[in-house]
Amino acid sequence: MDQELVNKIRENTDIVELISKYIPLVKKGKNYFGLCPFHNDNNPSLSVSREKQIYKCFVCGEAGNVFNFVEKYENVSFKEAVKVVGDSIGISVSSNYITKKEDKNQVYYDIYDIATKFYQNNLLSAKGLKAREYLQKRSLDMKTIQEFQIGLSLNSPNSLYKLLLKKGYKQEVIERSGLVTVDRDTYLNRIIFPLANPNGLINGFSGRIYNGENLNKYLNTSETEIFKKGENLFNYSRAKESVRKKKYVILMEGFMAVIRAYTIGVTNCIATMGTSLTSEQINLIKRLTNTVYLCLDGDQAGQTAIINNGALLSENNLNVKVIPLTDNLDPDDYILKYGKDKFYSLLESPLNYNDFKISKLKNGVNFNSSDELSKYINLVLEEIRLEKDEIKREIMLKNLAKETNVWYNTLEKKLNELLSTRESNSKKREIVLKPTKNKKNKYEKTLEILIYYMITKKEVITIVENSHVYFPIDKYRSLAREISEYYNKFGFINMADFNTYLEGNLELKPLLLEIMGLDLDNNVSNEAILEYLRVIKEYNVALEIKRLENLIIKEVDPLEQAKISDQIRKLKIGSVE
Ligand code: UTP
Ligand code: MN
Repeated sequence: MDQELVNKIRENTDIVELISKYIPLVKKGKNYFGLCPFHNDNNPSLSVSREKQIYKCFVCGEAGNVFNFVEKYENVSFKEAVKVVGDSIGISVSSNYITKKEDKNQVYYDIYDIATKFYQNNLLSAKGLKAREYLQKRSLDMKTIQEFQIGLSLNSPNSLYKLLLKKGYKQEVIERSGLVTVDRDTYLNRIIFPLANPNGLINGFSGRIYNGENLNKYLNTSETEIFKKGENLFNYSRAKESVRKKKYVILMEGFMAVIRAYTIGVTNCIATMGTSLTSEQINLIKRLTNTVYLCLDGDQAGQTAIINNGALLSENNLNVKVIPLTDNLDPDDYILKYGKDKFYSLLESPLNYNDFKISKLKNGVNFNSSDELSKYINLVLEEIRLEKDEIKREIMLKNLAKETNVWYNTLEKKLNELLSTRESNSKKREIVLKPTKNKKNKYEKTLEILIYYMITKKEVITIVENSHVYFPIDKYRSLAREISEYYNKFGFINMADFNTYLEGNLELKPLLLEIMGLDLDNNVSNEAILEYLRVIKEYNVALEIKRLENLIIKEVDPLEQAKISDQIRKLKIGSVE
């Protein structure tokens, strides 16, 4: 990595200005604050320091420099973030530099790239006539086919395999890509829909039968180095911009539905691949928006999926709405049957998730049976209890009173009982949810302070080096060593640049971020530093004494024992360095 170029870009960028382009910041004291975009923030908990050129969220712990912010916010790689920030201040980073990334998986992305083009060509060839007719029958025009890079695998057993071998890829690599299974192409005679990772790189395919063969309708890429089903969302990278603009995402079940919506200009749709939502997928959604419209199939399975996914998303503090479809239709069929305008009007008046759930509870309840009715009322009250908005709760309660003919005050009393138990429950839950920061002991805290000052005051590096004090905990020792090395190499050090330097270091980077977040006075005297070092020395001595005491127990020679105990005595009175 060209550290100098990266540092130059960082130095010429002001973090407050840069983050302001994404979220509004307000100055309070010496720092700037805004709503943290990385969790569902209600109170501005993202703090941005102009002095340190770093940001940190007090609630979710997200922290870093300008590059990390862009990386996380735009969901791009570190190198792409460097390019984005560089562009913003007129320093261009050659794309050569960006793709030079030594990604060990690059070879698989290359293979998928070749395969995609190969399949696209097949579709346009004479042999693709039947498949083209099939797509046409499904009202997918050429523009859509090209946009989604739809292709075709032919019925020839190893044409892709041969092509990849000819291009110089090793047999074992080709097999690990998932596109070839024991000398044969995995996809035969199927329409190929490319799947992509959150950054838009194609990492898998779903192949659909189109000749009515008696096979699985869709064949998906098996899990590979680059394809993890639970970490992909269909159309995610294409929909990103649109979701941010419209401020909500539409979640669908199948990718045909997403493609169909796209053809009528609804570009903020994504889909799971027919599985239930994973926490990785929920986090991907949260990077874009906090409102999800569930537009799942209109059949029974789809309705159940709405309830389950809705609960999952609500638990993760996302705002959930429902676009209910009728006649057992999926969004694809629905749009084809009722047209664009009808679908647009559904999007304009989504149902509140809780209201949807209540309407489901009502199905089949016999209102003339007092047993069934009271059971229904209790279930609905349970749902109302979950609604966080007081006004919405009151509306829901009024509706319930109206439809059941039960006195409003009775219902309200019951709801309040339920709510008071919720309060104690949620208080309990909050405690569990708080990040379980393991308490640091005095020595760990001292080491963190020393490291903090090593980065913010270069003189401290020299004091620490000259003291020859041994940092008794591995990770702190490694971090201090990296700081010394960095300083000796570049002649300067600051948090923001050093943070870049540690990019990709899974052990030290999080430790650094924690230390960066410490709120320490930047004016520290050399005496104070020496005092911190003394604390660490004292700790080392205590450790050494413990070690010797253990040794004495094992020692059988009385002469040796005496020597050791003398050493211990000296250590205790401090006459040994
Ligand atoms: P659907 O059966 O609803 O498919 O499965 P669909 O999207 O309506 O497709 P068409 O209209 O029949 O072509 C929904 C999703 O479940 C996954 C796919 O991701 C699909 O988009 N699925 C379905 C499979 O992975 N394999 C299958 O055999 C079927
Ligand atoms: Mn369908």
